[in-house]
Amino acid sequence: MRVLGIETSCDETGVAIYDEQKGLIANQLYTQIALHADYGGVVPELASRDHIRKTAPLIQAALQEAGLNAEDIEGIAYTAGPGLVGALLVGSTVARALAYAWNIPAVGVHHMEGHLLAPMLEQNPPDFPFIALLVSGGHTQLIRVEAVGRYELLGESIDDAAGEAFDKTAKLLGLDYPGGAALSRLAEQGDPTRFHFPRPMTDRPGLDFSFSGLKTSAANTLRQLIEQENGLSEQAKADIACAFQQAVVDTLAIKCRRALRQTGYKRLVIAGGVSANRQLRHSLSEMMQQLGGKVFYPQPQFCTDNGAMIAYAGLLRLKQGQKQDLSIEVKPRWAI
Ligand code: KG4
Ligand code: ZN
Repeated sequence: MRVLGIETSCDETGVAIYDEQKGLIANQLYTQIALHADYGGVVPELASRDHIRKTAPLIQAALQEAGLNAEDIEGIAYTAGPGLVGALLVGSTVARALAYAWNIPAVGVHHMEGHLLAPMLEQNPPDFPFIALLVSGGHTQLIRVEAVGRYELLGESIDDAAGEAFDKTAKLLGLDYPGGAALSRLAEQGDPTRFHFPRPMTDRPGLDFSFSGLKTSAANTLRQLIEQENGLSEQAKADIACAFQQAVVDTLAIKCRRALRQTGYKRLVIAGGVSANRQLRHSLSEMMQQLGGKVFYPQPQFCTDNGAMIAYAGLLRLKQGQKQDLSIEVKPRWAI
């Protein structure tokens, strides 16, 4: 089976084709980051309009990349939520209209299930069951994964998502939106011993997270330094970035270890934009080595939003016999 996947939940238009036999045979991505940069965050209306401009050309480009015609596509998967309602409506409308015209099934995919299954696109995918740590701009979740479609939410952030905390702290440090990756590069120049920020909610039982206080710790430190030193040196910014990143990574690692202990699982999957973070990958790899287990993560281009993960998740869903009628429905909020 050959599935076209369409992702338009936020500020990336992703279109990909996944072939059951050959794997990923086309992957097109257009990012709107430059469009939203001046506003310091994603502007929903601008995002929807840009998806309208880009979705159809990217579908054509994906077919061309794979050397296929429309008749060769046997199913369409699209992100049905969670995400920005206008952006979701663009992808779902295009997907369902094409499915109707091409007389093939369409299936709506949960965006976080797409992230969760992204490590399956790699050479050595994890076997089931595993613990998944999903860390994106909108979500931070720990999920017990028994099989495709059998998910139990073990814990999640009660306020900011990890990526959101990275982006807000990056903004404080004067970095452009979304600043997660830039903050992480800055942190590499930082002195890890200069500042220490709290590891929120690690001193009590449970698997929930809270990251909004960390941004406040960074803001307070920043203000004190500016008062004491009449400005902020590049080194001081790097030191704050380093302490912030270390606090997030340690907190995530502590909760992953707890989830693994609680379930007895030996496999950990990390996915979503923040799973591209080198420090996080390094820490979790070391931890899993100590625990005699293994960590799995997607290559960086499949950590952030993309069409490939949606095509793949859709293929699995379609093979399970799932498909929807062609009425158009999206879910801006949707529990996994
Ligand atoms: O999964 P994603 O592309 O979009 C959502 O579904 O939200 O995640 C985007 C998030 C942003 O907050 C971005 O700053 C963060 O992932 N991110 C990173 C890194 N690369 C992307 N955060 C920390 N370190 C990185 N290397
Ligand atoms: Zn995402």
